[in-house]
Amino acid sequence: MGVEEDFPLEIDGTPVQISTHPQTPLLWILREHGYTSVRYGCGAGLCGACTVWLDGVPVHSCDTPMWSAAGRNVTTTAGLAAQGPHPVQRALIEAQAGQCGFCLAGMVMRAAALVDQSDGELPESEIATALNGHLCRCGVHRRVIAAIAEVSRVHPGQSGGQR
Ligand code: FES
Ligand code: FES
Repeated sequence: MGVEEDFPLEIDGTPVQISTHPQTPLLWILREHGYTSVRYGCGAGLCGACTVWLDGVPVHSCDTPMWSAAGRNVTTTAGLAAQGPHPVQRALIEAQAGQCGFCLAGMVMRAAALVDQSDGELPESEIATALNGHLCRCGVHRRVIAAIAEVSRVHPGQSGGQR
């Protein structure tokens, strides 16, 4: 896998320095350093469970090598809730939208980016398309989509990505 290198990055607002191989997936680093709200699902970029923000953009942390995360800001669901739950997180809790909840961290990161960047109420079809790559073995998509649509109605265009 090659020689270890040092990678500076910021995780949920905290600067960290990680020594690892350049190809090590960001997901492995996050979980090894205690960011266990980030889920390890397929490990192959197929299920969406491991989704985090990289500079505010949702990415699969399982197929994000460390070399490409270096010098950038990573946000997990914990970071998203640092100043109180994001409206998407609140809505999913209030709607009791999850069952086992394994998929939800990834869905939250995708949906929060969508809601923050929207400038009005989101049609359910647009939310469904955004969540298309997020697998849920419990089948909660209907409840999640309805809750997110309601958030976008109540909090349209939150602030273009900044809360
Ligand atoms: S664990 Fe990353 S997409 Fe499934
Ligand atoms: S709520 Fe169980 S996998 Fe989605």
